[in-house]
Amino acid sequence: MADSQIDSVLKESRSFPPPQAFIDNANYKPADIEQLYTSAAEDHTGFWAAQARRHLYWHQSFSSVLNDSNAPFFRWFEDGELNASFNCLDRHLPERADQTAIIFEGDDGEVENVTFQQLYERTCRFANALRSNGIEKGDRVVIYLPNIPQAVVAMLGCARIGAIHSVVFGGFSAVALRNRIQDAEAKAVITADGNYRGGKLVQLKQTTDKALEEGCDCVETVFVYRRAGNDIKMTPDRDIDWAQAVADQPAECPPVNVESEHPLFILYTSGSTGRPKGIYHSTGGYLLGAICTCRWTFDLGDQDIFWCTADVGWVTGHTYIAYGPTACGVTQVMFEGVPTYPEPDRLWAMVKRHGVSVFYTAPTAIRALMRQGDQYPQRHDLTSLRLLGTVGEPINPEAWMWYYQVIGGERCPIVDTWWQTETGGHMITALPSYTETHPGSVSKPLPGIAADILDESGQRVEDAHAGGYLVIRKPWPFMLRGIWGDPERYQETYFGMFDALTYVAGDSAQRDHEGNYRILGRTDDVLNVSGHRLGTMEVESALVAHQAVSEAAVVGRPHDIKGEAIVAFVILKAGAQADGLADELRSWVAEQLGSIAKPEEIRFTDGLPKTRSGKIMRRLVRSVARNEEITQDTSTLENPQIIEQMQAEEVR
Ligand code: WT7
Repeated sequence: MADSQIDSVLKESRSFPPPQAFIDNANYKPADIEQLYTSAAEDHTGFWAAQARRHLYWHQSFSSVLNDSNAPFFRWFEDGELNASFNCLDRHLPERADQTAIIFEGDDGEVENVTFQQLYERTCRFANALRSNGIEKGDRVVIYLPNIPQAVVAMLGCARIGAIHSVVFGGFSAVALRNRIQDAEAKAVITADGNYRGGKLVQLKQTTDKALEEGCDCVETVFVYRRAGNDIKMTPDRDIDWAQAVADQPAECPPVNVESEHPLFILYTSGSTGRPKGIYHSTGGYLLGAICTCRWTFDLGDQDIFWCTADVGWVTGHTYIAYGPTACGVTQVMFEGVPTYPEPDRLWAMVKRHGVSVFYTAPTAIRALMRQGDQYPQRHDLTSLRLLGTVGEPINPEAWMWYYQVIGGERCPIVDTWWQTETGGHMITALPSYTETHPGSVSKPLPGIAADILDESGQRVEDAHAGGYLVIRKPWPFMLRGIWGDPERYQETYFGMFDALTYVAGDSAQRDHEGNYRILGRTDDVLNVSGHRLGTMEVESALVAHQAVSEAAVVGRPHDIKGEAIVAFVILKAGAQADGLADELRSWVAEQLGSIAKPEEIRFTDGLPKTRSGKIMRRLVRSVARNEEITQDTSTLENPQIIEQMQAEEVR
């Protein structure tokens, strides 16, 4: 076995064909999907050109499809011109002016329906306000708002005048906000006084003021939306009340048509590895990806009420709240609060209340709600659901089955979507009327996505039990266009390993004989035990399959003989006893995966260091396991205090 391969030891044989009832009502039938695959395979660029003509309104149509003369700096549809907000709003008005665009539910339960006409008018007014305050095409605007419709208005308002937005998640600290403002040299910040999440006040304006205390001379204007009504300090000549800024603005604003390659937004990645990177995306290619994936993966159509539970602060909220559903003219739910407030049935109550048909969330939320017990979903009639999706990390088969049975009533296909901030939209996923799904597998690459798995020497990995580097071998329209201000880092990070055409995702993956992919984890996280390379995900998945375990994180620690020894940090379910359990769990993993995967050490803990988007920061876990001093920035952690607690845990 080659050194660069990653052994896959998890066995999963359950499979679920698309239910006939789903196929009967699908917008994209199996034959339509088949057709997409065939035409994409015949002519990669021709396929994407046809999709771009079909799904986007171009102010000026394109003749150049892909310019790859300066790879990896690719240009798609480069002589085309369009406006993203026009595509999300104006073009729907003849048919959908009075259709609800956003069903908004606040933290406290208030509900507001915003029609496409209203969203259009609010966006135009706000775009005019931006312009009146000197914001122009190409200027950067940082958005630091709660997950409320005004965030979508702010994003589409920027896009309308060609300004480049950079949304910063409302849970981030002043330091994280400041770094992002400085890196993008933002001319304006859009924030709110504060908002309630889970009944607790989040002081957005106060944090913004603190961020702006140092080294942010680039910021000329701060727009402040009044959401919570909490006391705030307004700085004269800098801070403007949103309501005042839009009060006298016309409800029309001619869209600024931009070149297809004009940056639509910058988004800093969640930072589970290294210093944050300002990933930026193009206008035409990105929007095309948002639309195609909403249509193909989520099968969205006029019958749907779509709900993506992400926050607009993440790429998921960009593509599957602000841009995708709006560009498709689909009604969606947007939620300000948290899944467990006021009670752990909040999401399920909302599915029922708003008649949600397509529901998209993260494995971390599924696991957390599964831990609360079946009585919460059972309180509500969930039969409006027809399709379920997941994103963000590998979903362990246990959680997949729970989602399938308890939430989907064994009626709804599950689309486990693999993608990244960098990829802009779904890349590898099941297509619901077409794909036979397997718990824990992300299925197959989408039409027009040239995914592959390579070993260190660049050879394709054919062995179904071996893993390797997940790569994309051809450019696609919605790929990132760069790291803001750092072209070398872009080139090195994503195209430095094989060649200038081969995008390296940074994940390890494995592919079975039918071509189904399984994500094994980040390549930085791969364990090397006695020459066997194991993904962290399989060991974690085996641990959470034990009835006493609710969550687990697995890392390697140098070991004289084995190279690396596996250390597992384990969170137990309520009521489970740690006594004697460590040995039981070690044997359990050995039984499930083989003795090679048996953890050397099990440590019980109450929590794990997670990014705000719910990803375990394994670099930190690794430092704890190795008893190293923590020198990394922990300010973007959801729960910074957990590190000390983990360091203090006794070893069993
Ligand atoms: C990383 C990207 C994409 C939106 C949210 C996260 C992991 C993502 C899956 C999945 C297994 C997944 C990968 C990827 N990931 N989706 N379905 N199965 N792993 O965006 O913060 O850019 O993270 O999340 O490791 O590289 P992101």
